[in-house]
Amino acid sequence: MSFFRNRDVTILRLLFAAKSNFIPRSKLAQAAGMSSSEIELALSTYVDAGYPIEIHPQRGISLKEPSDIWCAEEIVARCPAQKNGPIWDPLILSKTSSTNDVAREQASKGAKAGFLVAAARQTKGRGRLGRSWESPPERGLYVSLLLRPSLSVAQAGQLTILSSVAMVDAIEAVSCLRPQIKWPNDLMIGGRKLAGLLIETEPKGSRLAFAVIGMGINVRHDAEDFSPEVRSLATSLYLATGHLYRRADLLVALLHAFEKRLSNPFAEVREAWAASSLTLGQQVTLTTVRGRKYGQAVGLDESGALLLRGDSGEVETVTAGDMQAV
Ligand code: BTN
Repeated sequence: MSFFRNRDVTILRLLFAAKSNFIPRSKLAQAAGMSSSEIELALSTYVDAGYPIEIHPQRGISLKEPSDIWCAEEIVARCPAQKNGPIWDPLILSKTSSTNDVAREQASKGAKAGFLVAAARQTKGRGRLGRSWESPPERGLYVSLLLRPSLSVAQAGQLTILSSVAMVDAIEAVSCLRPQIKWPNDLMIGGRKLAGLLIETEPKGSRLAFAVIGMGINVRHDAEDFSPEVRSLATSLYLATGHLYRRADLLVALLHAFEKRLSNPFAEVREAWAASSLTLGQQVTLTTVRGRKYGQAVGLDESGALLLRGDSGEVETVTAGDMQAV
């Protein structure tokens, strides 16, 4: 599977941290415990992969802003293991059916929390409620994280709230855009869908054995990259800002955001969710498996379920459905 554990990412970590500045060879050599020539050899893999590494006889070595390329080592180098957070173990694929399927398969074979799989393209990207998720090559970030949270099945809704907040955090950190959360799983910009979340959990008795957090963010899509059916409903970071962001930057920001939000008490996550919610306080229609419900979206309970206040004032909890403002 992923091989980075056997590779030393110290040099790459220092080069990214230096933000395009030169680092003296002697400093790199000392940090990595290598000779100067070994450093050049270690870097040649990244140079061959397209990372713009400049080797200057006097000034040392620098890494300029790369194009939209990525590799597991870059992700690891930019997300050093946290004391109490997950140890990210990325697998980057050029193509797969669905990253959620890969993550679930690895989870059932015993992969640890922190395993994640991202793909440049999905041939069977899945959305909620049996929908498909359009995944054109090298346009979106299609990624699934494996978590093994200490939660009961009844608390699984917390993961939806936490993940949508982490996605908002990451998108804002990279692009300065702050999308709004449309309960339960959509991130919206200007009334169009920018990103979606598909969480799949595996119970073990009353607890969660694991959860796969599948996220699709439209990053570099132009209008023609969407099918005619979704074109008027969807947007991308490129369409919203005119800037082509690197998918690796978003992935790194997502992992940092997950580290932060996983360490927050749920009450804090819930507050952050409320601050970004598109529909909180509004009259909404919810289409659920049990039929349609109308009411005012008034908040979330401790398990992450939506609180809906009906016309007669009674408040009910809803865990799944499609929401429309009325
Ligand atoms: C939705 O809005 O309905 C959820 C979309 C989730 C899409 C992501 S892309 C990565 C992961 N793999 C999938 O097949 N789906 C999720």
